[in-house]
Amino acid sequence: MAAEIIQYSDFKLIPDILPPESHLFMRLQPIDMMSQWKRIGRVSDFTADFFVNNASLNDYIRNSVSTVVNELVENAAKFAKPRNGLIDLDLKYYSTIIKIEIRNIVSDRIRANFEEIIKKNLSGDIEKLYYEQLESLSDEGDTSGMGYLLLYKDYPIRFGYQFKKLDSDRHEVTVEAYLNITEQ
Ligand SMILES: Nc1ncnc2c1ncn2[C@@H]1O[C@H](COP(=O)(O)OP(=O)(O)OP(=O)(O)O)[C@@H](O)[C@H]1O
Ligand SMILES: [Mg+2]
Repeated sequence: MAAEIIQYSDFKLIPDILPPESHLFMRLQPIDMMSQWKRIGRVSDFTADFFVNNASLNDYIRNSVSTVVNELVENAAKFAKPRNGLIDLDLKYYSTIIKIEIRNIVSDRIRANFEEIIKKNLSGDIEKLYYEQLESLSDEGDTSGMGYLLLYKDYPIRFGYQFKKLDSDRHEVTVEAYLNITEQ
Protein backbone atom coordinates (compact mmCIF):
# COMPACT_ATOMS: atom_id res chain seq x y z
CA MET A 1 0.00 0.00 0.00
CA ALA A 2 1.42 3.40 -0.97
CA ALA A 3 1.98 5.65 2.03
CA GLU A 4 -0.48 8.49 2.28
CA ILE A 5 1.51 11.73 2.16
CA ILE A 6 0.19 15.25 2.66
CA GLN A 7 2.32 18.37 2.27
CA TYR A 8 1.71 22.00 3.15
CA SER A 9 3.25 25.32 2.23
CA ASP A 10 6.93 25.40 1.18
CA PHE A 11 7.83 21.72 1.59
CA LYS A 12 10.94 20.96 -0.54
CA LEU A 13 11.35 24.64 -1.40
CA ILE A 14 14.99 23.63 -1.84
CA PRO A 15 15.05 20.16 -3.43
CA ASP A 16 17.17 17.46 -1.81
CA ILE A 17 19.39 17.11 -4.88
CA LEU A 18 20.83 20.62 -4.44
CA PRO A 19 24.16 20.05 -2.67
CA PRO A 20 24.58 22.21 0.44
CA GLU A 21 27.83 23.94 1.39
CA SER A 22 27.64 22.34 4.83
CA HIS A 23 25.55 19.54 6.23
CA LEU A 24 24.93 18.43 9.80
CA PHE A 25 22.71 15.53 10.81
CA MET A 26 21.75 14.53 14.35
CA ARG A 27 19.55 11.80 15.73
CA LEU A 28 17.95 12.50 19.10
CA GLN A 29 15.74 10.59 21.51
CA PRO A 30 12.59 12.42 22.66
CA ILE A 31 13.00 10.93 26.12
CA ASP A 32 16.48 12.50 26.49
CA MET A 33 15.21 15.92 25.48
CA MET A 34 12.25 15.70 27.85
CA SER A 35 14.15 14.39 30.85
CA GLN A 36 17.07 16.80 30.41
CA TRP A 37 15.72 20.07 29.06
CA LYS A 38 19.16 21.68 28.97
CA ARG A 39 20.10 19.33 26.16
CA ILE A 40 17.68 21.16 23.83
CA GLY A 41 19.61 24.37 24.45
CA ARG A 42 22.92 22.59 23.96
CA VAL A 43 21.84 21.11 20.63
CA SER A 44 20.54 24.51 19.46
CA ASP A 45 23.67 26.38 20.48
CA PHE A 46 25.93 23.77 18.97
CA THR A 47 24.18 23.85 15.58
CA ALA A 48 24.22 27.65 15.52
CA ASP A 49 27.96 27.72 16.32
CA PHE A 50 28.65 25.07 13.71
CA PHE A 51 27.20 27.21 10.90
CA VAL A 52 28.46 30.52 12.23
CA ASN A 53 31.98 29.26 11.76
CA ASN A 54 31.11 28.41 8.18
CA ALA A 55 30.67 32.01 7.09
CA SER A 56 31.13 35.24 8.97
CA LEU A 57 27.58 35.17 10.29
CA ASN A 58 26.89 37.78 12.93
CA ASP A 59 25.61 37.28 16.47
CA TYR A 60 22.08 38.13 15.48
CA ILE A 61 22.01 35.33 12.92
CA ARG A 62 23.64 32.98 15.38
CA ASN A 63 20.84 33.70 17.85
CA SER A 64 18.19 33.28 15.15
CA VAL A 65 19.49 29.84 14.18
CA SER A 66 19.65 28.80 17.81
CA THR A 67 16.11 30.06 18.55
CA VAL A 68 14.56 28.30 15.56
CA VAL A 69 16.35 25.00 16.25
CA ASN A 70 15.42 25.25 19.93
CA GLU A 71 11.72 25.69 19.15
CA LEU A 72 11.62 22.87 16.59
CA VAL A 73 13.52 20.37 18.77
CA GLU A 74 11.37 21.27 21.78
CA ASN A 75 8.20 20.68 19.75
CA ALA A 76 9.47 17.42 18.26
CA ALA A 77 10.29 16.14 21.77
CA LYS A 78 7.08 17.41 23.41
CA PHE A 79 4.69 16.01 20.83
CA ALA A 80 6.50 12.78 19.89
CA LYS A 81 4.59 9.62 20.62
CA PRO A 82 6.08 8.52 23.98
CA ARG A 83 9.12 6.27 23.63
CA ASN A 84 8.18 5.60 20.05
CA GLY A 85 10.53 6.66 17.31
CA LEU A 86 13.41 9.08 17.17
CA ILE A 87 13.91 12.70 16.21
CA ASP A 88 15.97 13.32 13.09
CA LEU A 89 17.46 16.79 12.81
CA ASP A 90 18.97 17.62 9.45
CA LEU A 91 20.59 21.00 8.84
CA LYS A 92 21.91 22.33 5.55
CA TYR A 93 23.73 25.55 4.81
CA TYR A 94 23.20 27.20 1.39
CA SER A 95 25.06 30.54 1.69
CA THR A 96 21.88 32.66 1.93
CA ILE A 97 19.61 30.13 3.63
CA ILE A 98 19.89 27.65 6.46
CA LYS A 99 17.46 24.79 6.03
CA ILE A 100 16.43 23.04 9.24
CA GLU A 101 14.51 19.81 8.73
CA ILE A 102 13.15 17.88 11.68
CA ARG A 103 11.17 14.66 11.84
CA ASN A 104 9.25 12.95 14.64
CA ILE A 105 6.54 10.33 15.14
CA VAL A 106 3.08 11.23 16.41
CA SER A 107 -0.35 9.72 17.11
CA ASP A 108 -3.60 10.28 15.15
CA ARG A 109 -4.77 12.92 17.60
CA ILE A 110 -1.52 14.90 17.68
CA ARG A 111 -1.31 14.83 13.89
CA ALA A 112 -4.87 16.13 13.53
CA ASN A 113 -4.16 18.96 16.00
CA PHE A 114 -0.99 19.96 14.20
CA GLU A 115 -2.64 19.94 10.76
CA GLU A 116 -5.43 22.14 12.09
CA ILE A 117 -2.95 24.67 13.49
CA ILE A 118 -0.92 24.70 10.26
CA LYS A 119 -4.05 25.38 8.17
CA LYS A 120 -5.08 28.16 10.55
CA ASN A 121 -1.63 29.78 10.42
CA LEU A 122 -1.48 29.53 6.63
CA SER A 123 -4.88 31.05 6.05
CA GLY A 124 -4.87 33.70 8.76
CA ASP A 125 -3.13 36.97 9.50
CA ILE A 126 -0.14 35.95 11.64
CA GLU A 127 0.07 39.25 13.50
CA LYS A 128 -3.62 38.99 14.42
CA LEU A 129 -3.35 35.31 15.42
CA TYR A 130 -0.29 36.16 17.52
CA TYR A 131 -2.08 38.85 19.56
CA GLU A 132 -5.24 36.73 19.90
CA GLN A 133 -3.16 33.83 21.20
CA LEU A 134 -1.26 36.15 23.56
CA GLU A 135 -4.52 37.47 25.01
CA SER A 136 -5.92 33.99 25.56
CA LEU A 137 -2.86 32.94 27.55
CA SER A 138 -3.19 34.35 31.02
CA ASP A 139 -5.87 31.87 32.18
CA GLU A 140 -4.06 28.69 31.13
CA GLY A 141 -0.61 27.77 32.30
CA ASP A 142 0.46 24.82 30.17
CA THR A 143 1.76 24.92 26.59
CA SER A 144 1.31 28.42 25.20
CA GLY A 145 0.90 27.86 21.44
CA MET A 146 3.14 30.87 20.71
CA GLY A 147 6.15 29.11 19.18
CA TYR A 148 5.25 29.11 15.49
CA LEU A 149 3.41 32.42 15.62
CA LEU A 150 6.49 34.05 17.08
CA LEU A 151 8.83 32.56 14.49
CA TYR A 152 6.55 33.54 11.59
CA LYS A 153 6.14 37.04 12.99
CA ASP A 154 9.73 37.89 13.95
CA TYR A 155 12.03 36.00 11.58
CA PRO A 156 12.64 35.92 7.79
CA ILE A 157 11.51 32.30 7.68
CA ARG A 158 9.40 29.99 5.54
CA PHE A 159 8.04 26.62 6.62
CA GLY A 160 7.07 23.42 4.85
CA TYR A 161 5.26 20.49 6.47
CA GLN A 162 4.74 16.86 5.55
CA PHE A 163 2.57 14.17 7.16
CA LYS A 164 2.98 10.53 6.31
CA LYS A 165 0.86 7.74 7.76
CA LEU A 166 3.08 4.81 8.77
CA ASP A 167 0.56 2.46 10.38
CA SER A 168 -2.30 2.49 12.83
CA ASP A 169 -2.07 5.57 15.09
CA ARG A 170 1.47 6.27 13.90
CA HIS A 171 2.48 9.13 11.61
CA GLU A 172 5.76 10.68 10.58
CA VAL A 173 5.76 14.48 10.77
CA THR A 174 8.45 16.45 8.95
CA VAL A 175 8.89 20.19 9.38
CA GLU A 176 11.24 22.20 7.19
CA ALA A 177 12.30 25.71 8.16
CA TYR A 178 14.08 27.93 5.64
CA LEU A 179 15.79 30.74 7.50
CA ASN A 180 17.05 33.56 5.31
CA ILE A 181 20.41 34.67 6.66
CA THR A 182 20.90 37.70 4.42
CA GLU A 183 17.95 39.82 5.49
CA GLN A 184 19.07 40.23 9.07
N1 LIG B 1 6.77 18.42 15.86
C1 LIG B 1 5.45 18.44 16.14
N2 LIG B 1 4.76 17.28 16.14
C2 LIG B 1 3.43 17.29 16.41
N3 LIG B 1 2.71 18.40 16.68
C3 LIG B 1 3.34 19.57 16.68
C4 LIG B 1 4.76 19.66 16.41
N4 LIG B 1 5.11 20.95 16.46
C5 LIG B 1 3.99 21.64 16.76
N5 LIG B 1 2.93 20.84 16.90
C6 LIG B 1 1.53 21.25 17.17
O1 LIG B 1 1.40 22.62 16.85
C7 LIG B 1 1.03 23.38 17.99
C8 LIG B 1 1.69 24.74 17.93
O2 LIG B 1 3.08 24.63 18.15
P1 LIG B 1 3.81 25.84 18.83
O3 LIG B 1 5.26 25.56 18.91
O4 LIG B 1 3.40 27.08 18.10
O5 LIG B 1 3.16 25.91 20.27
P2 LIG B 1 3.44 25.03 21.58
O6 LIG B 1 4.68 24.23 21.42
O7 LIG B 1 2.18 24.33 21.91
O8 LIG B 1 3.70 26.16 22.69
P3 LIG B 1 5.03 27.04 22.87
O9 LIG B 1 5.87 26.87 21.64
O10 LIG B 1 4.55 28.43 23.03
O11 LIG B 1 5.67 26.47 24.10
C9 LIG B 1 1.41 22.52 19.18
O12 LIG B 1 0.63 22.83 20.31
C10 LIG B 1 1.15 21.11 18.64
O13 LIG B 1 -0.23 20.82 18.69
MG1 LIG C 1 6.47 25.13 20.66
